[in-house]
Amino acid sequence: MNQQKFIPEKINNKFKGKDIVSIEQFNVKSIMTLFKAVDKVKQKIKKKKHFNLLKGVLSILLFYEPSSRTMSSFASSIKRLGGQTVEYSNPMQTSSAVKGETFSDSINVFETYSDILIIRHPESGAALKAVQAAKKVPIINAGDGYNEHPTQALLDLYTIYKKFGRLNNLKILMAGDLLYGRTVHSLLKALSMFKNNETYLLSPPSLKISRELYQEIGSGLRLKEIASQDEIPTGCDVWYWTRVQKERFKNIKIYEKLKLAFVLTKKLLDKKGNKNLIIMHPLPRVGEIETVIDADSSALYLRDQIQNGLSLRMGLLCLIFDRI
Ligand code: NCD
Repeated sequence: MNQQKFIPEKINNKFKGKDIVSIEQFNVKSIMTLFKAVDKVKQKIKKKKHFNLLKGVLSILLFYEPSSRTMSSFASSIKRLGGQTVEYSNPMQTSSAVKGETFSDSINVFETYSDILIIRHPESGAALKAVQAAKKVPIINAGDGYNEHPTQALLDLYTIYKKFGRLNNLKILMAGDLLYGRTVHSLLKALSMFKNNETYLLSPPSLKISRELYQEIGSGLRLKEIASQDEIPTGCDVWYWTRVQKERFKNIKIYEKLKLAFVLTKKLLDKKGNKNLIIMHPLPRVGEIETVIDADSSALYLRDQIQNGLSLRMGLLCLIFDRI
């Protein structure tokens, strides 16, 4: 918003008017404050006292990249709390971007119409660019290229927290496309803020997390890279499975070879799982978790994670607008 400020500004437990670009803006205290706000919104919903929480708030959802879930999750969160949305999918094909308008000009125009901009973009770093361009309203990053997806990481954390009552001393497996999966990047950074977490990273060698990210989070998080399902340790608390990110591949043949490198099968679950394990996935799933797993009580991706996505975004927006 204000161009003099350090960008992106740390949350430091004060959410009002803040941009949400990266999970790195958060610390443990801010995350816990957010979770309390989420619980408060849930209470209000239970008592049917939520209808006006975001009354008068108009948000524009600018999605330069396909999305069904994240876009509808934000839109439903806002509308259920009495706010309004303008939803703009594919501006590259349908807006003045076609005529050559710069991203920065588009941001300035859209911010004039709204109270907050929620942006998804194929370019890593686009959310930060939007923050630098915006003068009047906060920006929420709903996924920028293969960089970050902070609200997904927050809802993932909230899901883990609700199941285990803690975000430390966890043994976590992350599997799939760890190079291009932005949800993985944000979640790893988040987990490194909590003590004594141990993370196993299962991916094809060409889809390991970048060495930069490895260095960055390696000091806060015990990381172990593995290359075969046989190496998955028993006794994990969380399995976080992801899809291979087709849209990031220049050579589709390479994608085809890698897309089902690791499939979560019932057999694997029986062999390496345990009764306390939870299975998460940011969705969409495209074959990397067998559908037979869906009915297992450990599978949270089509249940808690979706519901928590709504609640988390409601809580976050209420804090940004100082309504809770
Ligand atoms: C994820 C994303 O867009 O990064 N989806 C989502 O927001 N729920 C994961 C993915 O697309 O694989």
